[in-house]
Formats: sequence, C-alpha cells, structure tokens
Amino acid sequence: MPAVEFPKGFDWGCATCAYQTEGAWNEDGKGESVWDRITHRGGVNPGPNGDTACDFYHRYKEDIALMKELGLKTVRFSVAWSRVLPEGKGRINQKGLDFYDRVIDEMLAAGISPLLNCYHFDHPMALHKEGGWANRDMAKCFAEYCGLLAERYGDRVKRWMVMNEPWVFSGGFHISRSGDWPTGLRVMHIVALAHGMAVRAIRAAGKPESITTAFDTPGIYPASDSEEDRAATERRWRMRDSFFIEGVQNGRYPDFHLGGNQAELLGIQPGDMEIVKTPLDCLGLNIYARELVAHDPADPHTGVRLAQPPEGVETFYGMELYPEAVHQVLMRMWNDYRVPLWVTEIGCNYSDFPDENGTVNDDRRVKFLQSYFAQMHRAIQDGADVRGCHVWTIMDSVEWESGFDMRFGLVYCDPTTQQRIIKKSGYWYRDLIAANRLAY
Ligand code: FCB
Repeated sequence: MPAVEFPKGFDWGCATCAYQTEGAWNEDGKGESVWDRITHRGGVNPGPNGDTACDFYHRYKEDIALMKELGLKTVRFSVAWSRVLPEGKGRINQKGLDFYDRVIDEMLAAGISPLLNCYHFDHPMALHKEGGWANRDMAKCFAEYCGLLAERYGDRVKRWMVMNEPWVFSGGFHISRSGDWPTGLRVMHIVALAHGMAVRAIRAAGKPESITTAFDTPGIYPASDSEEDRAATERRWRMRDSFFIEGVQNGRYPDFHLGGNQAELLGIQPGDMEIVKTPLDCLGLNIYARELVAHDPADPHTGVRLAQPPEGVETFYGMELYPEAVHQVLMRMWNDYRVPLWVTEIGCNYSDFPDENGTVNDDRRVKFLQSYFAQMHRAIQDGADVRGCHVWTIMDSVEWESGFDMRFGLVYCDPTTQQRIIKKSGYWYRDLIAANRLAY
C-alpha cells in the first residue's frame, strides 16, 4: 500500500451547516428561513425537514467533544441568518447571537479553530418575500448581516467564509429548477455584488486572518474529443466553476453566454464590478464529482448539454464520482489564480447503519476518501498550494430535501434517538490526521 506525507500543518477539518444540523427551527426567537418553508410545504404529508435535524442547538457540547475526539483542527460551521436577524434586517435576536457565542467558545476550548460561514442557503423568509436574491437590495442586507457577525465574533473568530456555493443557490438553482435564464443570470450578479460588499464589511469590522468562500467546482470534462465538445466544456467551466472567482479576484466575468450582450443579461450597472472585485485571501473549493459536457446547438444560452455519466458508475446528484477531478480543479485554480487553496468539501453519500455489535463499517467511505486525498496529494506534488481539506461532514445530517435518506457523516446519527456512533471512516480520519500521512 503506497503512503504519502501531507505538508506539515495541513489543515484537516470538517464542514457543517446550520440548517442541516441545528434543529430548533423556531426556538428562542428564530425566524422562518426559506429552507423551513421549502421543507414544510408538504402540509398534511410532510417530507423530511430540519425542524430537529441533529439537534445541534441543544447538543453542541456533546458534538464538539466528538469533533475533538477525531482531532479536527478546524470546523467550518454556518450561522442561520434568521436566528440572529429573524426578518433578515433590523431587529436583532440576542438569544440567537448568544448561541453562536457558546458554540465558538466551546470550539476554542476544545482546541478547534472555528471557521465561520455566514451563509449556507438559508436566508430569512421575510427577505424572500421581497424577492430574495433576485432583489438588488438583498446585497446590502447581506453585507450588513455579515458586518454584524464580524463585529460580534471577530474577537475570537479569525477565519471567515462569506458564503457556500454561490453558483448552486444563484444561477444553478434558478436555472435548473425553472429554466428561467433571465432571472438566474441577474441573480448571479447580485450574489457577486453581495459577496464584494460582505467581504468589505467583514474586513471593516475587524482584522480577520483570512476570508474565503466555498465555491462549487466539480471537475468539468468533455464528453468526447471533438472540438465542439471541448469548447462547450470551457464555457461550462466559465459559467459554473470560474464565474464568481474571476469576478471576485479579477473584477471581470468570463464569457460564457452565446446570445445577447452578457453584461446586459447579468444586469451589471456602472461601478458594480469595482465592488465585485474584492479579492479573497484564499479560495475554498467544494469538489465532489465531475460533469461531462457535450455541445448542444439547440441551447441558445451556452450551447451546453450535460451528458449522462457512463453506465454503472457511482454518482453524486447525477454527476460521476471521479477522484481525478480533485487534481484537475486544484491544478487549474492554482495556475489561474495563484492564491492558497482549501478543499472546503469532499464527501460521499453511503447509508451505512450500525451492525449487531453497534459498529458502523462504512468501508466504501474510507475507500472514497483515500482516493480523493491521493489526488489532492498529487496536486500538492505538482505544485498547487493546497493548505487544507474539510470533509463533508462530521455527522449524518439533513441532506436538504432528502433528509436523512442521504448520509454523508463520519459519525452516524439516528435522528429519532439522537444517538451518535463514530463510523469506521471517522476513526480512519482521526488516524490520518494524527499521522498526517495517507496510506491508500
Ligand atoms: C454540498 C452542500 C452541502 C451538502 C453536500 C452534500 O453541495 O454544500 O450542504 O449538501 O453538498
């Protein structure tokens, strides 16, 4: 079995998210978020929701003890916007702010570096009623909210994340769900504006060591070797993987749209790009899988069609699990931007349950992590400045509309009894962290 050393001080961690773990959806003054609304829409026959989730709101001490037991150096967690500002702006909910004080203090006491993510998909319903991300005013509200967090927690939290996966909750979500390209494109630009304003607000409130964002960056590969497919693959990369990064780091958006004036379609106003350009200290990359891209002359927008993954491969939300994608994305981002990189999410969905001895033998997850970490190490060998990796996720949690049917945790969680069991992969990760050395 080959073994490789990771760079000294490599930042091994895990990522989590408020909606997916906290529960207490309407407790202590928390307002309703869009995800509360989405998952409650089932009415008489409700589907899974985050009402209780992992009950992290009440069990954070126990869970942070587990994080410590695994030896995590960093834990990325998110703040529920509607817990601290129930209407998204204006009135502050002190009890909500107090909760994150407790979480941060507990992590610090456990020797864990808290990485605070301001936004993980769950904005307050009150803002959604005013148009949500399709409303330019949202950018200002978001920046004020981030500034509030930085003022309150900046004395203890040194590492900040502005948002998780801007592409997913802007263009991706709007366009793939509704086919509404005009709104999707405008939302992408508003989100980028909000991002720039938020970075400035966080910097103004204190002296953060670093600010990043977790961009959603699958590997992007052509479905065939044809010139058309390769050109379509590049357009897909520009729209999905590098749109926000290019805006934030360099103050311009890459060309990806085939019809009309792209700047007009995005709704860019004079002065906007100066705000969008607020370079980050490091780039966070969520790398799960790969997309296979084919040229589609019938698509007037980007001329792209996503090809089906090959028969029989394992998939993540329709994309093929593909370890080599980690290397592809890290190398391209390093070559294009030359800033330190963090893999802010890798992970896999395997529903393994306790056996008769109460142990959870998720060998498939161990194998998955080995193959992804090996590619990360290869990118480091090839010169990419990769500083750390945060596995998604510490424990099984509410996977959006799939609830606990999709399980990504290193720790098993039974949402009925709230029992936690460290899985085989959790112990494996603990040993990897301690050794800083990967055998695969
Ligand atoms: C990522 C999300 C995270 C989780 C994983 C499986 O795209 O950031 O919340 O759902 O996928």
